[in-house]
Amino acid sequence: MFERAVVESPASIANFGPGFDSFGLCLESPKDVISIRRLPMGRKEVKVLGKYDLPTDPDENVASYAATKLAELCGSGDVGFSMTVKKGIKPGSGLGSSAASSAGGALAMAAVLGLRQREIVLEAAAIGEELVSGARHFDNVAAAIFGGFTVVSDLRTRTIVQIRPPRFKVIVALPDITVETRRARAVLPDSVRISDAVCNVGWASGMVHAMTRKDVRKIASYLDDKLALPHRISLIPGYEDVRDSALAAGALGVSVGGSGPTVFAIALEHASRIRTAMADAFRRSSGLRAETFITVPGSGAKVLSRS
Ligand code: HSE
Repeated sequence: MFERAVVESPASIANFGPGFDSFGLCLESPKDVISIRRLPMGRKEVKVLGKYDLPTDPDENVASYAATKLAELCGSGDVGFSMTVKKGIKPGSGLGSSAASSAGGALAMAAVLGLRQREIVLEAAAIGEELVSGARHFDNVAAAIFGGFTVVSDLRTRTIVQIRPPRFKVIVALPDITVETRRARAVLPDSVRISDAVCNVGWASGMVHAMTRKDVRKIASYLDDKLALPHRISLIPGYEDVRDSALAAGALGVSVGGSGPTVFAIALEHASRIRTAMADAFRRSSGLRAETFITVPGSGAKVLSRS
């Protein structure tokens, strides 16, 4: 048992093209940093630092909620704690912001309880994710916790395949609008055409093979989706123009981060040019200002210190 811990938990790109609710790519940045300190039993406090307005009620803040769920899963449900969430990932952006906080909160609690099993952290983090998005999907939390490229290959048994991706640039354009995951899930149909499902199975299988082979051009060629993306494009004004502009500037592939509105491109070179092209395209086609940055695949949530 420890008194305090500090963890960092990164952004991630869920779906990563054809892997709806299954694939996740962990990013090196941005990150949330979460500190936890033990308090007497039953007492809980949350502080949020940064420019985003997030709940400080311990039952509504996703990081503290996931921490509580982890303690409950381990039979320590009444543990008291004070948590500070330094929020570096914009909520509602499609970069796994709630998943990062959820994973970080659960990992921070695991760190003070002296637990090493990441499987329990995963379970608690997914319960936290459900609080925000209304669905217990594991794609972002798996990527944030395990790092690299992850596949939720069997939800029933919580089997996560982890693949170390090759090095490539991820160029991210985050338009100045928010799309809540709940809303982006509400626009999806209850059933899909079998021909679309077949297409996605092929692309997803190809993606896993290309990741294993570390073939960046092949990875990029499979960055497409027929299950969710076509229904969500209307939530991202200017998407097609941003995609085409990124490709014209040298991107190898483009898709939407999670449930949007983030659009990301992958590339081996010309990252700065692609970044400018994406921001310009958002402004030109939809009048939206887009925050842009360049990152690379990351290695997952970490305990920075504990004592
Ligand atoms: N797989 C989820 C979705 C991720 O696309 O709804 C949410 O970020």
